[in-house]
Amino acid sequence: MTPDLSVELGRGLRIANPVGLASGTAGFGFELSELIDMDRVGALFTKGTTRLPRAGNAPPRVAETAGGMLNSIGLQNPGVDVVAQDYAARFTGWQCAVVVNVAGGTVDEYVECVRILDGAPGVDGYELNISCPNIAHGLDLGRDPREAARVTAAVRAVTERCVVVKLSPNVTDIAAVASAVESAGADAISAVNTFVGMKIHRHARRPVLPRTGLGGLSGPVIKPLALAAVAAVRGAVHIPVIGIGGITGIDDALDFLIAGADAVQVGTATFVDPSTAVRIADGLAEYLVGCGLSRCSELRWHAELAGDPAC
Ligand SMILES: Cc1cc2nc3c(=O)[nH]c(=O)nc-3n(C[C@H](O)[C@H](O)[C@H](O)COP(=O)(O)O)c2cc1C
Repeated sequence: MTPDLSVELGRGLRIANPVGLASGTAGFGFELSELIDMDRVGALFTKGTTRLPRAGNAPPRVAETAGGMLNSIGLQNPGVDVVAQDYAARFTGWQCAVVVNVAGGTVDEYVECVRILDGAPGVDGYELNISCPNIAHGLDLGRDPREAARVTAAVRAVTERCVVVKLSPNVTDIAAVASAVESAGADAISAVNTFVGMKIHRHARRPVLPRTGLGGLSGPVIKPLALAAVAAVRGAVHIPVIGIGGITGIDDALDFLIAGADAVQVGTATFVDPSTAVRIADGLAEYLVGCGLSRCSELRWHAELAGDPAC
């Protein structure tokens, strides 16, 4: 029996398999499409797109850490007009879904970006980045459930396309934010974005990254933290959850699906091997056949008791 790998993310957006390319690690797909067959991934989640073009932060913007990396890109992107008027038409050449990741300093900016993109072909949905630790002001909406709900509801009101809300792990209670955005009309949730981190340049006695010294930590080092966040979100909502954080191969993806994710995204690992997401998608089908399962959702662990392990 051939397993059915497709996943419904909401508002009719059905992706062919549960493996996506994470925002900011695949650009807008054009360079990557020269290295991999985009149609073998379930979805491309584009680089964060803002109302106006952004040049991003001064270098250095990335730093390697044990088991991962820090980034402080500062949302470099060409601005939503370029994405809607130029890039979107090029997305139509791919079978894989294209979900445009949207960021902004205010609720109005998110709404404006989505309004502009809504007229464009080739865009299947939106992923709202409500959590970016790299910009000095704004983008803190993801830390407060009420603010997270406010931006979700405002975007929900202007589009019929699928709205995925991407949560920050840098919060005390991620389940509360998840529940708030579900109530405000999110179709699905991505969890998680990067963790705030710092690396020190010991000889210079200062952080490696400029300005605040802070960056977003990603890669295998965050996987156990991301899994716990996904399990918490799964326990709080009924909508699809897309697990992200340190996925480098089929085993990692399986762990997220078992912990409660309906789909996954591959981020930092694409820098190491651009075909990682494709390999995982192929591996999932083989794994399900080997286990005699017909859908990824059959892998899920159902927590009987949600308790505090530290108690
Ligand atoms: C260089 C870089 C740029 C990123 N840019 C974005 C972005 O623009 N928007 C966003 O929502 N997430 C962004 N992310 C976060 C990733 O999409 C992902 O959530 C995070 O890296 C954790 O997954 P990973 O451990 O597989 O990389 C970025 C990550 C990296 C490493």
